[in-house]
Amino acid sequence: MAIGYNELLEYAKEASKKSYSPYSKFPVGACVLYESGKIYQGCNVENASYGLTLCAERNAMSSAVINGETSKITAIAIYSPKQKRCLPCGACRQWLSEFAKNEKETKIILEDINDEILVLSLEEIFPYGFKFDE
Ligand code: THU
Repeated sequence: MAIGYNELLEYAKEASKKSYSPYSKFPVGACVLYESGKIYQGCNVENASYGLTLCAERNAMSSAVINGETSKITAIAIYSPKQKRCLPCGACRQWLSEFAKNEKETKIILEDINDEILVLSLEEIFPYGFKFDE
């Protein structure tokens, strides 16, 4: 059975507990779902040289690559215990667009301010993204 959005968000929550964020003290967890049905978790990993920080979303997508995932992303759940509606940063949106099934069908799953689930499309949060046309 395919994983549901609630469960995907639970995996993002679980990932946020592994966060290495001693500087911002802002843990983030992400869980990305591929067409293959496989999921990959990631957390943010900070560094004393602040700009080298890796976001949870890109950590999760990198994990998919090293594990041989070749299908496309259908959904990503993102969670921070510090902030409801924790949206991906611009860099992570560009990364999502690289691996997304397509802008309309790839969904962003967030815990909303009323504790309900908010489902957005990549198209809504990242219109007119850069694509490399050969
Ligand atoms: N962060 C993420 O992990 N994902 C985002 O999309 C936005 C920001 C992290 C980076 C940093 O460790 C902390 O949140 C505060 O910016």
